[in-house]
Amino acid sequence: MTEDDRKRRALTHVGGRIDTAGDAPDAKLLAHAIDVPPSTDADGDPSRAHVHGFHTYPARMHPDTASRLVKAFSPEKGRVLDPFCGSGTVLIEAMIAGHNPLGTDLNPLAVRLARCKTRPREEAELEALVEKATECAAHAEERRRTKAGATRRLPQEDVELFEPHVLLELDSLRDKAMSFQADRSQQDLMLVLSSVLVKLSRKRGDTATGTAPRRTSPGFASKVFLQKAGELARAMSAFRKLLPTPLPRPAFVKPDNATELTSLPAGPVDAVVTSPPYAATYDYLEHHAMRLRWLGLSASALQRGEMGSRSAYRRVPPAAAAGEWSRELARFFAAVGRSLKPGGPLVLLMADSAVGPVALRADEIVAETARACGFYPAARASQVRPHFHGPTMAAFRARPRAEHAILLRKT
Ligand SMILES: C[S@@+](CC[C@H](N)C(=O)[O-])C[C@H]1O[C@@H](n2cnc3c(N)ncnc32)[C@H](O)[C@@H]1O
Repeated sequence: MTEDDRKRRALTHVGGRIDTAGDAPDAKLLAHAIDVPPSTDADGDPSRAHVHGFHTYPARMHPDTASRLVKAFSPEKGRVLDPFCGSGTVLIEAMIAGHNPLGTDLNPLAVRLARCKTRPREEAELEALVEKATECAAHAEERRRTKAGATRRLPQEDVELFEPHVLLELDSLRDKAMSFQADRSQQDLMLVLSSVLVKLSRKRGDTATGTAPRRTSPGFASKVFLQKAGELARAMSAFRKLLPTPLPRPAFVKPDNATELTSLPAGPVDAVVTSPPYAATYDYLEHHAMRLRWLGLSASALQRGEMGSRSAYRRVPPAAAAGEWSRELARFFAAVGRSLKPGGPLVLLMADSAVGPVALRADEIVAETARACGFYPAARASQVRPHFHGPTMAAFRARPRAEHAILLRKT
């Protein structure tokens, strides 16, 4: 982990003064939603509570923010859409609040993860999950003891990313997990495997670049796999207890491009609550390439359609970046506009970003683009967020970087 990453982690949700604009009651609701306490200790951290804590995901929304936005802007039992659902934070909080969540994302890992986390389970299924994880660990141990080789031709990328014995152990765990065909636990077990991959690899972190040497003892991979399966079972059990009765159905979660949204079920959506990718900040494709490979998920749709990707923006001249971001957002607004009911709220959580020395002010670009796409900016709440990225630091010299909760309404 680099020094920049360390600071970024420690200072996510830093608190501080919030500026508001637009309709005062709505702005107050937005301000309350982003006014979440800094995460200090792991035990009391809402972002790690029950299923939220299972499996890392870059730029997750704070669960309290998601919960407050859903409660403030969706009618009771309303249909709440998150078209960039990622790991499913908004969907989970919407289920807890008794709403009817719909989630889509272009990243197949996000779809798998959000589906897993938003499917309420009976205790018997969770017990079976832990039993099957134990079988996976026993299978890996047996293959290690008998010095069995790999079960398949291992990709060169993985040969470089893992110590040889760790790679073989992971391959054995995967082999057994995949054998539970036509069984819902198969996908859970594969996500458990996905959740431990980075920790067991030489990768420095989910979003960090580069590798670091690692020395892992034999059997460690199976041990953390088993621990994680137990954690998932406990988290799903705790989540179930938070849900209203009768127990809701699993959330609707589908792969879809937010600039198209062709997979949604018929009928208008009451509210959209979402955090689109921050322009030029992450590369979900690159961050998740290893996991997609292990899960056998296709990266091609994300490769073609990822919005805001940092590597794509590196190819854009800084002066043209705001125009490019505005065009991407316009396609998204047009797609959402086809599903949202008239007057319906579109709530966006977005941060300013930069391409070279040029700041991309999310609030300004969104307001201008939205007007041209059948939405009007109704209210906003913004809080200053530190910017540590050396090469783009100059962009925020005149005005600091901020995170915004923006309310647009369909005209
Ligand atoms: C900021 S993250 C959302 C995180 C989410 N709120 C959570 O709490 O986990 C943005 C998401 O946008 C997705 N994404 C990027 N381009 C997309 C597109 N064109 N259509 C749909 N999703 C896209 C990424 O895969 C990522 O999951």
